[in-house]
Amino acid sequence: MRKILIGNWKMQLSVRESVALARALRAGVKKAKTTIVLCPSFPAIPAVRDALRGGAFALGAQDLFWETKGQYTGEVSGAALRELGCSFVIVGHSERRAHLGETDEMVNKKVSAALAARLTPILCVGETREERERGTRDAALRRQVHVALRGLTPAQIGKVIVAYEPVWVIGSGKAVPPKDAVRAHGKIRNAVEEVAGAAVKVRVIYGGSVDSNNGAGFLREAAVDGCLVGGASLRAAEFLKLVQVAETVA
Ligand code: 13P
Repeated sequence: MRKILIGNWKMQLSVRESVALARALRAGVKKAKTTIVLCPSFPAIPAVRDALRGGAFALGAQDLFWETKGQYTGEVSGAALRELGCSFVIVGHSERRAHLGETDEMVNKKVSAALAARLTPILCVGETREERERGTRDAALRRQVHVALRGLTPAQIGKVIVAYEPVWVIGSGKAVPPKDAVRAHGKIRNAVEEVAGAAVKVRVIYGGSVDSNNGAGFLREAAVDGCLVGGASLRAAEFLKLVQVAETVA
């Protein structure tokens, strides 16, 4: 099974640094079975695209707006991202939910807008520390999946990649045990089935402190279609090791 490896560079790099990282990655991967997606910040997208040209990488953005056009100062449309060469877009990352007040309803509109723009949405879901401690993880995942996919056809839902990112694990340096992620992925798949029917199979990936030491544990699991990587995607050697791992398990 072809695995997916996505680097979310967040707001960590300048445009210049983004290009340098893209060049180093491009030089380190000639071809790959793995679907490798890099998600730079908006202003770095064109330069990173040029640095990656002809290589084995796909381009993604970290967010989009749900409207196609209009008086929405500062927002970016899916069509503009496509025009820049993006084929993926992260939607509903927990940092946007936490810092910018993104709700499940907004995430739903963004998933829909991404699909309409022919971008593959990488829909982020995950429980907070509080939900984890209260034992309501599964209910939180179910709610997030149900609302995010509302109104979409089964065919559209089949195109979505769901990223399970336990919020309390992001940036902590301590990933959950792979079996824990496998259980959560099962809950996510059940929730998708409730919305779209059993015939629809979505890809579910794990994110949260993935690095080259623990990556194999996740990527080896059949229930884990890939990883969404933050910190470890900012260092070329580290991310290239993860690519190697994905290539060997695929
Ligand atoms: P870290 O890999 O730095 O924990 O970040 C995960 C993440 O939020 C990816 O979207």
